[in-house]
Amino acid sequence: MNEAIMLLPYVTFFFIVLESCRSLDTIAVNQNISDGETIVSANEKFVLGFFSPSNSRSRYLGIWFKNASPQTVAWVANRETPLVDTSGVVKLDNQGNLILVNGSGSEIWSSNSSAYVTDINLVARLLDTGNLVIRNGNEANDEVFIWQSFDYPGDTSLPEMKLGKNFITGRETYLTSWRSAEDPSPGEYTLRVSAVKGQYLQVYLRSGSVIETRIGPYNGVSFSGGANYVSDAKPVSVSYATVNQKEMYIAYISESNTTTLRTTITPGGKLEISQLKFPNPEWISIATSPVDYCDNYGVCGPYGSCTTATSPNCGCLKGFELKTSNETSPVNEESVCTRSIALDCGSGEGFLKFSSMKLPDTKNAVFSSNMSLIDCEVACKNNCSCTAYANPNITHGGVGCLLWFGDLIDVRVFSQNGQDLYVRLAASELSDLYSSSGRKKKRLIMEVTLSIAAALTLLGILLAFNIRRKWKKRSYTDREGRPEKTLAKDYKSSSSQIGSAEVQLFSLSEISRATNGFSVDNKLGEGGFGQVYKGVLEEGQVIAVKRLSKSSGQGLVEFENEVICIARLQHRNLVKLLGYCIQGDEKMLIYEYMPNKSLDSFLYDESRKSLLDWSQRFHIIHGIARGLLYLHHDSRLKVIHRDLKAGNILLDHHMHPKISDFGLARMFKEDENEAKTKRVVGTLGYISPEYAIHGLYSVKSDIFSFGVLVLEIVSGKKNRGFVHEDHDDNLLGHAWRLYRDGRSLDLVDECLRASYSALEVVRSVHVGLLCVQHRVEDRPNTQTVLAMLAGEGSLLIPKKPAFFVHESEIDSGSNLPSLPSSVNGVTLSQVDCR
Ligand SMILES: *[C@@H]1O[C@H](CO)[C@@H](O)[C@H](O)[C@H]1NC(C)=O
Ligand SMILES: *[C@@H]1O[C@H](CO)[C@@H](O)[C@H](O)[C@H]1NC(C)=O
Ligand SMILES: *[C@@H]1O[C@H](CO)[C@@H](O)[C@H](O)[C@H]1NC(C)=O
Ligand SMILES: *[C@@H]1O[C@H](CO)[C@@H](O)[C@H](O)[C@H]1NC(C)=O
Ligand SMILES: *[C@@H]1O[C@H](CO)[C@@H](O)[C@H](O)[C@H]1NC(C)=O
Ligand SMILES: *[C@@H]1O[C@H](CO)[C@@H](O)[C@H](O)[C@H]1NC(C)=O
Ligand SMILES: *[C@@H]1O[C@H](CO)[C@@H](O)[C@H](O)[C@H]1NC(C)=O
Ligand SMILES: *[C@@H]1O[C@H](CO)[C@@H](O)[C@H](O)[C@H]1NC(C)=O
Repeated sequence: MNEAIMLLPYVTFFFIVLESCRSLDTIAVNQNISDGETIVSANEKFVLGFFSPSNSRSRYLGIWFKNASPQTVAWVANRETPLVDTSGVVKLDNQGNLILVNGSGSEIWSSNSSAYVTDINLVARLLDTGNLVIRNGNEANDEVFIWQSFDYPGDTSLPEMKLGKNFITGRETYLTSWRSAEDPSPGEYTLRVSAVKGQYLQVYLRSGSVIETRIGPYNGVSFSGGANYVSDAKPVSVSYATVNQKEMYIAYISESNTTTLRTTITPGGKLEISQLKFPNPEWISIATSPVDYCDNYGVCGPYGSCTTATSPNCGCLKGFELKTSNETSPVNEESVCTRSIALDCGSGEGFLKFSSMKLPDTKNAVFSSNMSLIDCEVACKNNCSCTAYANPNITHGGVGCLLWFGDLIDVRVFSQNGQDLYVRLAASELSDLYSSSGRKKKRLIMEVTLSIAAALTLLGILLAFNIRRKWKKRSYTDREGRPEKTLAKDYKSSSSQIGSAEVQLFSLSEISRATNGFSVDNKLGEGGFGQVYKGVLEEGQVIAVKRLSKSSGQGLVEFENEVICIARLQHRNLVKLLGYCIQGDEKMLIYEYMPNKSLDSFLYDESRKSLLDWSQRFHIIHGIARGLLYLHHDSRLKVIHRDLKAGNILLDHHMHPKISDFGLARMFKEDENEAKTKRVVGTLGYISPEYAIHGLYSVKSDIFSFGVLVLEIVSGKKNRGFVHEDHDDNLLGHAWRLYRDGRSLDLVDECLRASYSALEVVRSVHVGLLCVQHRVEDRPNTQTVLAMLAGEGSLLIPKKPAFFVHESEIDSGSNLPSLPSSVNGVTLSQVDCR
């Protein structure tokens, strides 16, 4: 296009007088604008003139962005009636009608507008918003237009343009895609606000009459799940909706005057919101839809729920299951989510809350703006055909009531910015969620997602671009949406193939009763995370309650992490999690009670260490190794504990060791062996060098900690803080010196005197030293450790262990720049199981 803006020298002798006061942004009555001439808005953002789309010779009258390159057209007048040459002329007549004529004087396009009276003062003006308006040039009220291009949009919506319906004139304003990049005539796709009186506002992206994607419903601030859209920065626009007796529409305004926004529906059927940041002439996409498989309208059928975090993406809402109407071909397109237990409208029926959802299509819903959530529940409960309710407008803490009658369609789970949906379920279905004891204890199936869930979500979104938009065959998995009280943020379907375990949710009052109101007498101990109390449940079961201090490093995420991790792990050498409690600020884990507390309470206590004889110690070493083997190899997950230490080994009645504290545990996929973290966590004295220095951890980091533990159990001394009069080495270095000199037996705890098996001690020290080797490859794996402890096979000669230096060097940080400080051996917390 012609870059130079042609001023308008086209002046006839009739209008010489007018010339001097003619504005560049207006067309006056009887003034002709021919091809090559342009009109520019006062802010120099928009241009009106004739153009040809790329690769096309047809001429169109349109409005484009002045500063965008390549030329970006925002509006076209003669979309369906192109000019074949550059003979076009546009003019405004004194009736207020804007007319486009071709070289032979035939009318090609007309605004079809007319003023009440014939008036020479009428003007067509290109406003700063990109709106071409026809109005009376003398009219004081700037808002009174005879006609405006914003009422007849093409494929682009600009800030301040209303999309919706005027109930008085009946005119609906919506976007239609171009047929192709070369052809602005109306294409296949439309973007329309579903504006029906009494219904709630949402937006449909359609191909012909078929709904492709539903955006919304509008939550008073933006569209539900807007987080799904990519955005490079904070919002640059504010959207608003207006619903009243006269009209129903949405619009948006730009937050900044250096940014130009546009919302376009592409010829390929994509909604794109992009911005132009002055002086940069290129558009940056800030949002697009559809993005993923779940954006395909109703892709999982009625009562289905879609999520991109699992594969397959489709599942049924909790309380619904996949049933087929056709017995001969079970899982196919005819399979639909059907209620597991039919509704009978009995008094026990109630609602299950699903969080973080895209609310179902509101075409089946009735909206009342003045009802609270409680009123809404009552209204839904009182009408047997009401299937669900929700509070659609999130402003002021939730306004309005949506009641659904009939199927719930196009539901999905969002990773953020979703809304709560309350679905009606049969009494027996709900009672499954509450234990029959009437103590309102919620039993819940914890389902674990791998730590890669977040990555999968992202991947899913990316992959979805490649997924066929028209899915042929639905494949399903059990999907339960996100029922309330589900701890796991990534609570997803069982398709993650990691089985399930049950943990109970206890109420605060229950735990308070069990522990005598957390009395001092019940206190078992205290750590960096908070306090541990002993308690007795009503049934008589003795429990240990780990009450996380509010200031503890263990935040909600670590807490969830631990619950999810342990719930899945069941082995006699792992402490058993019975349940958890989360109420207000309180977070508690409820374990089986271990009467003999932790290993360190024996090992490092002068009066109690003699209670642990050698056979018990050797038995404990074995038990820990077996627990580790389970974590590393035998459980269905590969779990790296990351904080193995004497304080985390609990002892039961029979002094059987149980590994506890999974707050830092990290789950791995079966084929994943090593991971890297920026935040090194764990306890000084037990951390392996590659982890401390490079943040790398693997099962071999647990093996290292295990080696330290073995040497501590044998010697009855702590690695951290170990001092020896003869040298500056830590416990590991000391053990290695003794081993090298053939004096391994000298490492044995003095209190054991001669009552030990020399063979077992020597072997334990040897294995311990192999485990604390500097190089990861030099450390044995867990199976080998167990085999070596059992006396099978020959043992390699250990080299100098890692950290063969006095600990003060490590503490000084000189060679461990990334090692965080640790307070009194207290675990540094962090997040990772997900
Ligand atoms: C505008 O163009 C029409 C033909 O399209 C012509 O008849 C008329 O005289 C022109 N008016 C002016 C002011 O140039
Ligand atoms: C103008 O339009 C008429 C009717 O569409 C057509 O017959 C005529 O050829 C056109 N003239 C030019 C110069 O394009
Ligand atoms: C103007 O009216 C004509 C005839 O009714 C119609 O074909 C044309 O689409 C209308 N133009 C606009 C912009 O509405
Ligand atoms: C949402 O509620 C606020 C008042 O809390 C109201 O001003 C706004 O218009 C509502 N939006 C819609 C779309 O109902
Ligand atoms: C942005 O727009 C506001 C209101 O229109 C105006 O007051 C302000 O000066 C403008 N800022 C710039 C940088 O143009
Ligand atoms: C059931 O499915 C089979 C195979 O797809 C088809 O031949 C049959 O007509 C179906 N029956 C009904 C009742 O839909
Ligand atoms: C809510 O609005 C409806 C009409 O929209 C009215 O009939 C009803 O009385 C209102 N209820 C309350 C509690 O204001
Ligand atoms: C339930 O609600 C529907 C839709 O508003 C209405 O048609 C029906 O009469 C109601 N039924 C009862 C029993 O109130």
